[in-house]
Amino acid sequence: MKVLVTGVTGQLGWDVMRVLRARGLEVIGATREEMPLDDPAKARDFVTATRPDAVIHCAAYTAVDRAEDEPELCRTINGTATGAIAAACETVGAKLIYISTDYVFPGTGEMFYETNDATGPCNVYGASKLEGERALQDAMPSGRFFIVRISWVFGAHGKNFIRTILGLAKTREELTVVNDQIGSPTYTADLAELLADMVKSERFGVYHATNESVCSWAELASEAIRLRGFQTRVTPVPSDAYPTKATRPKNSRLSKSSLDVGGFHRLPDWKDAVARYLSEIDLE
Ligand SMILES: NC(=O)c1ccc[n+]([C@@H]2O[C@H](COP(=O)([O-])OP(=O)(O)OC[C@H]3O[C@@H](n4cnc5c(N)ncnc54)[C@H](OP(=O)(O)O)[C@@H]3O)[C@@H](O)[C@H]2O)c1
Repeated sequence: MKVLVTGVTGQLGWDVMRVLRARGLEVIGATREEMPLDDPAKARDFVTATRPDAVIHCAAYTAVDRAEDEPELCRTINGTATGAIAAACETVGAKLIYISTDYVFPGTGEMFYETNDATGPCNVYGASKLEGERALQDAMPSGRFFIVRISWVFGAHGKNFIRTILGLAKTREELTVVNDQIGSPTYTADLAELLADMVKSERFGVYHATNESVCSWAELASEAIRLRGFQTRVTPVPSDAYPTKATRPKNSRLSKSSLDVGGFHRLPDWKDAVARYLSEIDLE
């Protein structure tokens, strides 16, 4: 099986490449030059030319705050280009896995979002990723796709919240971190194993896939600091204390029942994932 992966310089794409290779699959890691998402026709043509059996589309415009200032570029990359890649997959008969986000939901209340709950993004990035979901569904009447919504991503290859917090904790006695946004972290090494299972299957559909159990950003920071043995105090604060250009959802709880129904394993608990991540980055 030949699998084309986008976003291979990013956190998730890097781990997907590693896991697919370890499982003995033939993989093509598309560079930004080969598949520039700001040029959707060129990205589409690369898929048609390489004729993969499956595409795992990890690349995206991920700068959530900057997106508020350049909504058109963000929509082209996350929306239009996803539709173009999906159309090419349909043409060559390839399956497509599209990575989406909890930000497609309004993020209010305290319930766990099911995959078929009403969407309603609260920022430009979320709207663009939802546009990608819709463009893909329109372009692939065969239904040979997976939409996998994830949240709070961390992986060894790239910048993320945990890395930032640990960098600050080296020199600070106290850090203030928001505690009224609740969700689940997603460790790319764990997610990549699930995506490798999915790509070989025909159990298409919309899935939610994060590590198990929920926490606040403050709890996530505290756990990483504790495991690292720093003495830094984490003071929980409300989101209002940290105004950002893009609104963040307060409720990012995603129900993972879709994985059970689809016959896929759930990811391990987030605390277990953070511990393994810290040993992984120790090796760098
Ligand atoms: N990060 C999160 O917390 C989070 C949460 C929910 C969902 N997601 C989704 O999860 C997926 C993976 O996220 P991640 O954290 O691994 O992303 P990331 O580390 O920010 O990497 C993004 C990747 O996309 C590539 N890319 C960006 N703009 C491009 C363009 N115009 N043309 C071609 N390639 C481009 C980047 O290439 P360069 O290295 O060349 O820039 C990089 O390889 C994305 O679909 C994202 O929307 C992420």
